[in-house]
Amino acid sequence: MRNVRIFDTTLRDGEQAAGGALTIDEKLEIGRQLARLNVDVIEAGFPFTSPGDFRAVDLLARELRNVEVAGLSGFKREQIDTTWDALKAAARPLLHIVISTSDIHLQHQLHERREVVLDLTRDSVGHARTLTDHIEFSAMDATRSDLDFVSEVFSAAIESGATVVNFPDTVGYAQPAEFAEMVRYVMDQTRGIEDVVLSVHCHDDLGQAVANSLAAVKEGAAQVECTINGVGERAGNASLEEIVMALRTRGDYFAADTRLVSTELARSSRLVSNYMGMVVPPNKAVIGANAFAHASGLHQDGMLKERTTYEIMDPSDVGLDESSIVLGKTSGRHAFRDRLKRMGYRLADDEFQAAFQAFKEIADRKKTITDRDLEAIVQNEQRRAFHQTFELLHVQVSTGTGAMPTATVRLRSDDGEEHVDAGIGTGPVDAIYQAINRLVKVPNQLTEFSINSVTEGIDAIGEVTIRIESNGKTFSGHGADTDILVASAQAYVNALNRLMAGLGKGWSTTPEATLLADASGVPGI
Ligand code: KIV
Ligand code: ZN
Repeated sequence: MRNVRIFDTTLRDGEQAAGGALTIDEKLEIGRQLARLNVDVIEAGFPFTSPGDFRAVDLLARELRNVEVAGLSGFKREQIDTTWDALKAAARPLLHIVISTSDIHLQHQLHERREVVLDLTRDSVGHARTLTDHIEFSAMDATRSDLDFVSEVFSAAIESGATVVNFPDTVGYAQPAEFAEMVRYVMDQTRGIEDVVLSVHCHDDLGQAVANSLAAVKEGAAQVECTINGVGERAGNASLEEIVMALRTRGDYFAADTRLVSTELARSSRLVSNYMGMVVPPNKAVIGANAFAHASGLHQDGMLKERTTYEIMDPSDVGLDESSIVLGKTSGRHAFRDRLKRMGYRLADDEFQAAFQAFKEIADRKKTITDRDLEAIVQNEQRRAFHQTFELLHVQVSTGTGAMPTATVRLRSDDGEEHVDAGIGTGPVDAIYQAINRLVKVPNQLTEFSINSVTEGIDAIGEVTIRIESNGKTFSGHGADTDILVASAQAYVNALNRLMAGLGKGWSTTPEATLLADASGVPGI
């Protein structure tokens, strides 16, 4: 079996999804989970575009020692220097430089001729080579470029020191057989390609990102760039879990596999979905709630006789097996700590105390606590530990047939003051949101609201995911509790905290961040 490198770009391209912006603490948690999943590369951000991205790349570079950490850069020397500053503490840094190669981009965006792009390639990679010896070079919009020109640019990048060359379908335009042909052509035409890693990076505008990536692997691509749940710009990127499981399930066809710990896939998916506020559709391949649900009588009959009649993967291989009952209300601190440790969580002392307190409260209301419940409890507490402008202290609702739904809410602001108000609404959630609006006073619109239960049973923890819009920007929020009204209130406060932290897509936290973003030279990726 040939090994295919998995380059995860959830924290860079994935975070570019509308409403998907993450706090630095959330990035670190996702980075740790990606390391548990054993991806080969974590692209942690685009340091030149904002101080927040710079800090995130620097933090992940210092923290994640057993994985390559990549940072994206434009082609200008000052951008490369800044990116390297953010990356250089990494045990295994990968400096990623991007330049457009299609005539559409050259004419309308870069306003440069092909010869200039070739010079910029040599200059940028050559400059990066004075800083580090592991450099990825990407030819943006490669699939709409003249392939002879891409091959020429790749040859120049390799001659100048690139160790990975990446062939992106930036706008999700290519079709699988065509993409395979393009990859083969570029491999044939590029000088020195046999000494470097050929990578592909596919977007899903026409729903072909995974198919295109796999077609390229079949042609010999040695690295695939993808994101958890396929999150990303516009329709998103290739979905990591689908690629990994296609290779693992059809090794007979691809003669290739990855180093990933597939049992961590479902947990990685839930973490990214919760933090980004992007609900995974039930019919999503590999990790959707229905991916292993057999509804028709004929299928159920087959499954009872022999699982492989209708299942090509075992749900336990992707971490979707039955949650084991682990703890109950009599479980003590020791058992709780031990279980969290075995699940791979490392909590600071105050986070642990808060999580234990939350566990006890939930265990009073819910008979048995499974791993999935623990995951929801811990994530909820971690979210609270991140900086919040407002913290939800109390919510109380009165509702019922013929009643006017009324809610009372108490919040604490980050200056320590407590604020109480009440609201009425068309339903209990509306009443809670009206009360919060009266306290927070930030105009916004609720655009999406969804509730899922973490496990089965009437006493299950409910997870609420919402999206709000303010000034044309989208913010997500998430909450979890056995009481779905409390979870709804948590989700709204979480979304408002993100709004106030300036985490909306395209929203820079400081004026200098806006200036840096404008000056990045790589608009619109
Ligand atoms: O889609 C794209 O072309 C990119 C590059 C930076 C690789 O994201
Ligand atoms: Zn991309």
